[in-house]
Amino acid sequence: MGNDSIKIRTPATVSNVSCGFDCLGYAISEPADIVTVTKTDNQDIDISLSGIGADKIPTTTKKNTAGKAVLSFLDFFGEKKGFKIHIEKGIHPGSGIGSSAASAVGAAFGVNKLLGSPLSLEELLVHCINGEIVSSGTAHGDNVAPALLGGFILIRINGSPDIIKLPVPKNLISIIVLPEYQINTQDARNILPKNVSLKSAIKQSGNISGFIAGLYESNFELMSRSMVDLFAEPFRRGLIPGYDSIHQAAMESGAIGCGISGSGPSIFALSYSKERAEIIGKEIVKGFQKVGLNSKLFISSIHTHPPEILD
Ligand code: HSE
Repeated sequence: MGNDSIKIRTPATVSNVSCGFDCLGYAISEPADIVTVTKTDNQDIDISLSGIGADKIPTTTKKNTAGKAVLSFLDFFGEKKGFKIHIEKGIHPGSGIGSSAASAVGAAFGVNKLLGSPLSLEELLVHCINGEIVSSGTAHGDNVAPALLGGFILIRINGSPDIIKLPVPKNLISIIVLPEYQINTQDARNILPKNVSLKSAIKQSGNISGFIAGLYESNFELMSRSMVDLFAEPFRRGLIPGYDSIHQAAMESGAIGCGISGSGPSIFALSYSKERAEIIGKEIVKGFQKVGLNSKLFISSIHTHPPEILD
């Protein structure tokens, strides 16, 4: 595309992964956003959109996650530069699979590349998180970090973030089922309690630790036992029609674990094989049908690389 333009493919992501509310996420190969960034002669950041749900996304730079991520990046350098950013949405907005994060990451990654990569991926992350704040109201990196770095990412934000890339067990397959309706992330965050009990905190700490140990040891049984959420799922499951029976059906069909992807409404599950993933996916789709909802199934390996440069 020449030195003034770049086209980036940024993957969808599953955050929380049941036991890691706001600090754990993974990237999947499909679906993805395609973000084209082009240098201009002025000092504006112009956003345009096409594709799935494009009409629901603001194009005002400061209100758009991609625009905000780029403004954060340029402010950091004190640079006054102009870019056109076109986002071709492949990831449904409001789906719980990191739609806004993918756009923010694609734009920030593209601008960084066009400026000669002054920032490492880890340094770029904070600007992607600043973009993501526009959509969810808080600084959490559990979608942007895996979209930017690939694989399973543990992210702890306490001052400057620690980003830890975790191993991906061989044969691990992700299942996503996206029903035909949306949940607003801020609404799904507002229903969460402000405090959790010590008992829940202890159980959840054990679960996330167990899950991570399971990834390191490729121990699917330990991962399975650990995929329990006490922080968000108990309060959000009522937002998803049929959730309890869908969860049960997925587990009975052999899922390693199943839960709400991010703030929903997508449901995710993990499987130890592609064949098993097809069976689990069909059960989840059937579960949504029973409550009158059409849905879309994505079966995918874990995407283990940074965003792809297409052109
Ligand atoms: N961890 C976030 C949440 C992801 O569950 O609210 C949503 O973007």
